[in-house]
Amino acid sequence: MADQAVISALAFLHIVSAIAWFGGVVFFVSSVAPGLRKMSIGARIEFSARIGPGIVRFYGISGTLTIVFGLGLLYEAFGGNPSAWPVSIEIGFSLGFLAYLLALVVTVPASRRLDKISQELVKNPNAGPPPPEFVKNFQRLGMGAIVIAILLLLATVFMVSTAFPF
Ligand code: HEM
Repeated sequence: MADQAVISALAFLHIVSAIAWFGGVVFFVSSVAPGLRKMSIGARIEFSARIGPGIVRFYGISGTLTIVFGLGLLYEAFGGNPSAWPVSIEIGFSLGFLAYLLALVVTVPASRRLDKISQELVKNPNAGPPPPEFVKNFQRLGMGAIVIAILLLLATVFMVSTAFPF
C-alpha cells in the first residue's frame, strides 16, 4: 500500500504545476498574443527579445514538472501495471504528452527563432525590417499555442473526470 502522504504531496505538486502550465498557455492565447498583434513591429521585437526567453523557460519548467509529478503520482496511486490505470487518466496523459511534444517540436523552436531574430534586431536597429521568417514564426507560435491550450483543456477534463468514472 503506497504511503498516503506521498500520494497527497505528489497530487499537490502535480496540480500546482498543471495550473501554472495550463494557466500560462491560456493567458498567452487570450491576452498576450492578441495584444502583440495590435502592437507595432518594433514593440513586438522588443517584447520577444526581452520577455520571450523567460516565457519559454516558464513553460519548460511547468510542463516538465506536470509530467514528472503526474508520472510519479500515477505510479504511487495506481502502481506500475498499466491494466490497473483508469482509462480517463490514460486518455488525459496521452493528451498531456501530445501537448508537450507539440511544444517541443513546434512552439519552442518557433519561439527560440523569434527571440534570436529579435535580439539581433535590438542589438542592430539599423538592420532594416524583420525578415519574413519573423512573421512566419509568430504565426506558427500563435497557432501552436491554441492547439496546446485545447489539448491541455481536454487533458484536465479527463484527469478531473477520474473522480467521476464513466
Ligand atoms: C502527461 C502526464 C500526466 C500524468 C501521468 C498524469 C497523472 C495524473 C494522476 C495519476 C492523477 C490522479 C488521479 C486520481 O487519483 O484521481 C492526476 C490528476 C490530475 N491531473 Fe494529471 N497527469 C498528467 C498530465 C496532466 C495535465 C497535462 C494536466 C492539465 C494541464 C493535468 C491535470 C490534472 C488535474 C487537475 C488532476 C486532479 C484531478 C482531481 O483530483 O480531480 N494532468 N494526474
